[in-house]
Amino acid sequence: MQEYTYPDSIVITAGHVDHGKTTVVQALSSEWVARHSEEIKRAMTIKLGYTNVDLYECGGEYPIVPIGLIKDGKCPDGSEARFVRRISILDAPGHEVLLSTMISGISFVDGALMVIDASMQAPQPQTEEHFIALTIMGTKSLVIAQNKVDLVNRDKAIENYMQIRGFIKGTWAEGAPIIPISALHRVNIDALASTLNNVIKPKAIDLSKPPIMYVLRSFNVNKPGTPPSKLMGGVIGGTLLQGRIRVNDEVEIRPGLKLGDKYMPIRTKVVSIAIGNQLIEEARPGGLVGIGTLLDPALTKADALVGSVVGEPGKLAPVYGSIDIEYHSISRKGIDSSLKVGEPVMVIIGSASVMGIVRSFKGDSASIDLRRGVCTQEGAKLVVIKQVTGRWRIVGWGKLKG
Ligand code: GTP
Ligand code: MG
Ligand code: MG
Repeated sequence: MQEYTYPDSIVITAGHVDHGKTTVVQALSSEWVARHSEEIKRAMTIKLGYTNVDLYECGGEYPIVPIGLIKDGKCPDGSEARFVRRISILDAPGHEVLLSTMISGISFVDGALMVIDASMQAPQPQTEEHFIALTIMGTKSLVIAQNKVDLVNRDKAIENYMQIRGFIKGTWAEGAPIIPISALHRVNIDALASTLNNVIKPKAIDLSKPPIMYVLRSFNVNKPGTPPSKLMGGVIGGTLLQGRIRVNDEVEIRPGLKLGDKYMPIRTKVVSIAIGNQLIEEARPGGLVGIGTLLDPALTKADALVGSVVGEPGKLAPVYGSIDIEYHSISRKGIDSSLKVGEPVMVIIGSASVMGIVRSFKGDSASIDLRRGVCTQEGAKLVVIKQVTGRWRIVGWGKLKG
C-alpha cells in the first residue's frame, strides 16, 4: 500500500447560490465535485462535495500554487513545483432549501472560503445565512473570494469590495482577506491559494483519543443484480474529529436502529478504508474517508446513515430523542426569532440535521422533541433554523444541557 499524505485541515465553501463555489474548488483542484446525477442535471450543488487540494511552492509574487494550476509537476512559469501541504475542501450548496446541509458541514472545519459574486449587490441572502452560521459555530479563519471579476469593470469591482468590507465590519471576520478572482478564467487563483495557505493553519490532531467520525455520506456500492455471494458490505463516508480508525477495527454506529422508542447502536467491522481512489490502512482527521464495512448495504444505501457518528464500541456519546437547550435567539430584521410551543424547527447538531417540535420555551431555556435520535453530548452547540415566509432562516443557537 502506498504512503498516504493526510490533509492537515478542512475548509468549507460558503456563499449564495451560483456565486461560483464549485467552480472555485475546480480551479484549485481541477476536479468538479458536484458529481451526482441530480447535481449535474440541475447545475447546482445538492450534497456536500469533497476534494483534496495539494499546494505547491513556485516562484513569483504568489509563491503558493494549487494542484489545479500545476501541469506535469511544473509551475505555471515552467519551474519545478515543490509539494508543501495538502488541505481538503468541503464544497457546500448555496441554495436556500439546502441551508441545513451547509450548516451540517461547519462543525468540523478549520476555516471557510466565502465566495461572493462581484457582479451582484453584497451580501445576498444565503451569503448572510452562511456567515451567521459560521459565526455561531465559532469558525476562526475566513478567506473571501470576490469571484466573477471578469463580469465587472474596475469601479463596479471596487464598489462590491466596499460592500463586502461593510458587511464584515465589526464582526469576528473584520480584516479577512478579500481576493478578487475569476474562477472560470483561472485568474488570481495563485493569490487565492497563497492566502488560504497563510490563513488556514494546520490543525492539531490528537490520534490518541478514541475515534469519533461524523457520517456525511453512506452508500450501497453494489450494482443492481449483483449475486448475494458477490455483494460488498455497506460503505460509509465521513470525517474524523479525533483519533484513528484502522482496517479490521470493530466500530459502533450511533444512533443506530430504532426499536420502539429506543435506539440500538449498530456494530460492524472495518474491511477497507479509502480516500478518493486510494486504499489506506488508517483513517485520521483531516479528510473525507470512505469506510467499507460488513454491514448489510440496505442499511447504508442512499445516505441512510448521514448524521450518524462512528466510534469505538461503548465509547460514543449518548443518543438524544429530545433535547433541553440553553437557547439564544438571534435578532434579525423582519424575523420573529423566538420559539413557539408546538412549532416545527430544524436543529443542526454536528453533521446531523433533524426536524423537531418545540415542546417548551421559557426565558433562555427550550426543549425540543426530535423526529430522529442524535448522538451528541452535553455542551454541544447547535443551530436552530425555521421557515419564515417559505425560506429557511437561522433564528438562534443553543447549547445542549445534560
Ligand atoms: P451552488 O452550489 O448551486 O450554490 O452554485 P455554486 O456557488 O457552486 O456556483 P457554480 O460553481 O456552480 O457556478 C455557477 C455559475 O457561475 C456557472 O455557470 C459558472 O460557470 C459561473 N461562474 C463561476 N465562476 C465564474 C467566474 O469567475 N466568471 C464567470 N463569468 N462565471 C463564473
Ligand atoms: Mg456548487
Ligand atoms: Mg449552481
